[in-house]
Amino acid sequence: MIGIFDSGVGGLSVLREIRAQMPAARLMYVGDTAHVPYGPRPMPQICEFSEGVTRFLLGQGARVIVIACHTASAAALKYLRARFPDVPFVGMEPAVKPAAEITQSKVIGVLATQVTFQGELFASVVTRFADTQNVRVLTQVCAGLVQQIEAGELDTPKTEVMLRGWVEPILAQGADALVLGCTHYPFIAPLLQKICDSQTPQRPVRIINPAPAVARQVARVAAGLADGADTPAQGRTHYYASGDIDDFRRALRRLLGINRRANAVRWRDGRIVDSDSR
Ligand code: DGL
Repeated sequence: MIGIFDSGVGGLSVLREIRAQMPAARLMYVGDTAHVPYGPRPMPQICEFSEGVTRFLLGQGARVIVIACHTASAAALKYLRARFPDVPFVGMEPAVKPAAEITQSKVIGVLATQVTFQGELFASVVTRFADTQNVRVLTQVCAGLVQQIEAGELDTPKTEVMLRGWVEPILAQGADALVLGCTHYPFIAPLLQKICDSQTPQRPVRIINPAPAVARQVARVAAGLADGADTPAQGRTHYYASGDIDDFRRALRRLLGINRRANAVRWRDGRIVDSDSR
C-alpha cells in the first residue's frame, strides 16, 4: 500500500497521477486539513505534523510514503528519512530542472509557499539546474492561495486578482515557464494559463506541474519493494482527513470528480487516531 499525504487537498493532484500510472495499487491519502496551511508555520512544527501523519500511514500498512506537499518536503523530508531509515519516502522537489531545460527566454518563475523557498532543497535545485544554465529564477510566495483552493475558489474573480498580482510582474520580466511549486496549484492551472495567454499573447508560457514525474518515481520505488506495494484489495483508495470530512468530500467531488466517503481522523497528543467515518 502506498501512503500519500498533504496539508490538505493539494496532494490530490499527485494522487490522480499515481492512480493513472498505477491503476492496481492500493492507495491511502491523508489530508491534514486540521492544520492547513502548513506554509506559514515554523519548520519544527511541520516536522512534527509530518511525523504524526507518517506514523499513522505506516500503522495502516503503508510501505512507501509520498510527501505530496512541497512545504512538508522542504521542511521534513530529511528529518523523516533520518527518523524512519527503513521506509522509502518520495518527496516533492520544485520543478526547476524541466523549466530550465525548456525556457527560451532564460527566465523562469516559481510559485510556492514561504517554507518551500526557505528549504535547502530549493537552494540546491536552483544551484544545480538554473545557475549552471544561466537561467534566472524569479520566486513568488502566493500567501492565501492554498486557502482559496481549499475553499473551492478555483476560478473566482478574487482568485484571479490574487494570481494576476503575483504572476504579471514575473511575466513582465520575461518568464516563459512557470513552476507550480505547491501541489495545490495544479488545480488553478487553467486560470493561470488564461492569465498568461492574455498577458503575453506573443510569447507562449509553459506551466510545469511536477506530479507526473513524481508519480513515475513512486511507481519505480514501489516496483523495487521485495513483494511489491500491492495487496489483494487492488485499486482501492482510502481517504482520511483530520478536519471537516464533509468539506473533504466536497473537495473530492470538485477536484477529482468522484463521490467518495472520507474517513475522519483526529489529532490526540501528537498522534493521529482513527475516528468515525461518514
Ligand atoms: N500542498 C502544499 C504544498 O505543496 C500546500 C502548502 C500549505 O499547506 O501551505 O506546499
